[in-house]
Amino acid sequence: MDTLNYLPNVRHQYEHLPYPHRDTQDEARRLIRPTSERLCNLNHHCYRGRRNFDNFRALVAGAGTGDGTIYLALQLTRHPGARVVHLDLSEASIEIARQRAKVRGLTNIEWRHGSLLDLPTMGFEPFDYINCTGVLHHLADPDAGLRALKAVLHPGGALGLMVYGRHGRTAVYQMQELMRLINEGETGIEARVANVRAVLESLPATNWFRRSGNLTSDHERFGDAGIFDLFLHEQDRAYTVSETYAFLERNGLALLDYAWARERVMLEPETWIRKVPALLEKMQKLPLPERRAAVELLCGTLTRQHVYAAPEADRKALIGDLDNIPFLVDFPDPDTHRALADHLLRNPGKNVNINAADCSFPFTPGRYTASIFSHLDGNATLGEVFARIRGKGKNTPTDRELLDDWRPVYERFALADAMLLRHRSVPATVEVLHGDRLPAKLPRPAKPKPPAKAKAAKSAKPAKAAKPAKPAKPAKPAKPAKPAKPAKPKPPARPARPTKPKPKKKS
Ligand SMILES: C[S@@+](CC[C@H](N)C(=O)[O-])C[C@H]1O[C@@H](n2cnc3c(N)ncnc32)[C@H](O)[C@@H]1O
Repeated sequence: MDTLNYLPNVRHQYEHLPYPHRDTQDEARRLIRPTSERLCNLNHHCYRGRRNFDNFRALVAGAGTGDGTIYLALQLTRHPGARVVHLDLSEASIEIARQRAKVRGLTNIEWRHGSLLDLPTMGFEPFDYINCTGVLHHLADPDAGLRALKAVLHPGGALGLMVYGRHGRTAVYQMQELMRLINEGETGIEARVANVRAVLESLPATNWFRRSGNLTSDHERFGDAGIFDLFLHEQDRAYTVSETYAFLERNGLALLDYAWARERVMLEPETWIRKVPALLEKMQKLPLPERRAAVELLCGTLTRQHVYAAPEADRKALIGDLDNIPFLVDFPDPDTHRALADHLLRNPGKNVNINAADCSFPFTPGRYTASIFSHLDGNATLGEVFARIRGKGKNTPTDRELLDDWRPVYERFALADAMLLRHRSVPATVEVLHGDRLPAKLPRPAKPKPPAKAKAAKSAKPAKAAKPAKPAKPAKPAKPAKPAKPAKPKPPARPARPTKPKPKKKS
């Protein structure tokens, strides 16, 4: 450690209770895939779809026990010269992450012990991407932390951050206050954790944490480490949506988008407002940050905020660029696109539900939606698809007409990260699944693309974030939206029973 540029109590906690709790041997049984760290998501949201990940330089700052590091490094083994730096101030956490990497035979990770506040003087070349999840809100001065990250970020690079959501954690902060009173004078970690357990067993039904149901579940998933992190942390603050926007802006960064589809969908008014169209319309007219701030207050369930940020705002791949290739993320093969097209052709004029990001919402097919899906294959650009449609039919719609027709459908899929874009100039990134555990020693060379059907079957199992309406089973087609309620989406959870976080990940 170069300096004492960290909070001693915070280090003490993470040396004794590395977080999130991970059994290194589990690495042989499962792969944790934080979707915000999936290369195709990063490419779409942060690099205009034009990023070739060869020689990519990623930093995971406050990397803990290695979830982000392992997933990034595993994907990047397919990209020559690409490397990940794992930085943390807890040596115990680094050791767990190192063991996990060893089980997978990963050799593209550099391990660094230190404080992210010292990054500007640690001698690193600028990074293309910096992941920093669940860390900045544990610093005495989160702005100083963000500035330190920005100082080592390449101007064309991007950040993936997670800070706590203030309103969603209201009950957590009441519990923290309660535990400070009960643990007055108590210094031992074990004794304080035992007191939390006693309190949890004794919570009356009126208690706000108990009422909040499964909104936060770290204490159930990560044992003592989860209990300490949730209820006993000595340095813990949270941000509202507006505060997150302001936090980034005053440090010269733009919020590109929410990085977890589930949170993005959660912050859409129509996820919750079903009965009063006039209210929905009013909220939809608000500028995006205000709209999201209003929905955050409306639903009360935003406990974490995973966001992408960058020095400039226009980093998303755009559907208006006809050199971009649209693809269904979890089912990128041509068969799935065609199955969806077939379903649309068999059910003309009917709305279709998309089940993705923990919720189900309808899209209204346009005149050309079925044709467009029938020509999408994960490799064709939108311009090529439009040209094929023109070549086939009697009428010859212009690119503009086709784009206007396609845009609302695409935006439905894109909201949930069910469909993403990549530019034609870069190869498709290869999805990494658990079976891709690398043998010890050498990273495996690029995997040949499996036949379409086999890949669809393989993708279908672990897919969590995006699932187009049963497209893989054309015989049992996607459930059309009920005609009586064509435009009413189903919220991910009723306000009284908020959804359990999924994909399952720690903070
Ligand atoms: C809640 S854990 C999150 C771990 C990891 N980012 C994840 O999402 O799985 C916070 C981590 O940040 C580390 N940390 C806290 N302050 C830090 C600092 N100033 N510099 C580097 N790491 C820090 C802790 O040691 C701990 O491992």
